[in-house]
Amino acid sequence: MEKLSLPKSKIKVLLVENIHKSAVDLFKRNGYANVESLRDAFDAEELKKKLKDVHILGIRSRTKLTKDVLEAGEKLLTVGAFCIGTNQIDLKCAKRLGIPVFNAPYSNTRSVAELVLAEIIMLFRGIPQRSWGAHEGGWDKTVKGAREIRGKVIGIVGYGHIGTQLSIIAEAMGMQVRFYDIVEKLALGNAQPCDSLDELLEIADVVTLHVPETPETKNMITAAKFKKMKKGAFFINASRGTVVDIPALAESVKSGHVAGAAVDVFPKEPSGPEEKFKSPLQGLRNVILTPHIGGSTEEAQANIGGEVAEKLVKYSDNGSTLGAVNFVEVALPPQSNTTRFMHIHRDEPGVMARISELFSRREINIAGQYLRTDGEIGYVVTDVIGRVKVGMGIRKDLAGVPGTVRTRFLYEAPPK
Ligand code: NAI
Repeated sequence: MEKLSLPKSKIKVLLVENIHKSAVDLFKRNGYANVESLRDAFDAEELKKKLKDVHILGIRSRTKLTKDVLEAGEKLLTVGAFCIGTNQIDLKCAKRLGIPVFNAPYSNTRSVAELVLAEIIMLFRGIPQRSWGAHEGGWDKTVKGAREIRGKVIGIVGYGHIGTQLSIIAEAMGMQVRFYDIVEKLALGNAQPCDSLDELLEIADVVTLHVPETPETKNMITAAKFKKMKKGAFFINASRGTVVDIPALAESVKSGHVAGAAVDVFPKEPSGPEEKFKSPLQGLRNVILTPHIGGSTEEAQANIGGEVAEKLVKYSDNGSTLGAVNFVEVALPPQSNTTRFMHIHRDEPGVMARISELFSRREINIAGQYLRTDGEIGYVVTDVIGRVKVGMGIRKDLAGVPGTVRTRFLYEAPPK
């Protein structure tokens, strides 16, 4: 299947599910005039019809891109998931069709870190139970159980994007930062690593989790781990719901061993507002419960819009797949006075030799070439010196190389 490249004015971008305006702005700034942004999500049949003439598709989490839908997108070059997760997309099928998928995994890092810091202050001051009391007509005006966070030890489990961001702002508030990560990480500021999770649990005044969902982190914090925590320490989880044994946390809070908690993520979360949320933590006055909104801010939405749109534009303009979730990552810096071809193929022996032969047969000099393969597909971006006429048929020949999934001609060098 040959996918011929097009001038930008002919490239159709469709964004569904009310994606932030920052995405449309970015496309327009980069010369993509044909951008349609819709509020609604569409079911498979509607989407298939809409996709007929779409080259670049942007979705959020409600749009399901199954094999069926992807295959209906005959002109589809790439997909942007304007969110964090990509479970709604058949990534394997997209890859097989030569469609890189991009998302924005770190656009809401700061939002999560800010919420956690706010919750630490709330917990140390006993605000959840006092607020609850005041709503009911109570007046718990005591100093007992109200402390500053300055000088206290924060134990950060998972020192990645969110963990390190939190480390910086917690230290700026006067906290002592200790962290535990399975990978050796550069400690920021005065933060200090712990040799084990248990060591962190034993010394922290507040423990906060920022690990991914993996087989190792499943039920990482159990009743035994809560027992290891200092009596009177606080516990926060805004990472993934499966990491914590929630009934064990509820028991630990009830017994007074854990002095309070803030939980944003749960093993089972309602799929929408109509489904009732149930948790053993409900009714515990010193526990802050939030509906998985750690990363949900207007700023994060705007960042996601810009970040994903930028990745899509970079792919469409110069073939960069940096940050793609289902594709080998290739980035060749744009070069002047060259013509660029991209070629996606099944990872089979002989494809590269054939491509090179096509160029050498025409006495075309290669200025730069970047190939990545992963056993399933191969992706090569090739810059050739000077202006290569499309009329030379090279694009057709490239499309005819056995194993080709798709090929595109990205830009022409300016005429001499
Ligand atoms: P990241 O990938 O940048 O960092 C995760 C860190 O955890 C890495 O440094 C990794 O080495 C470490 N890690 C992995 N397994 C570990 C283990 N068994 N023990 C200790 N450390 C381990 O991820 P990022 O962006 O910091 O996100 C962290 C978590 O926050 C993720 O689970 C993500 O899904 C969640 N998240 C939640 C949001 C919310 O709305 N509540 C929003 C954004 C992210």
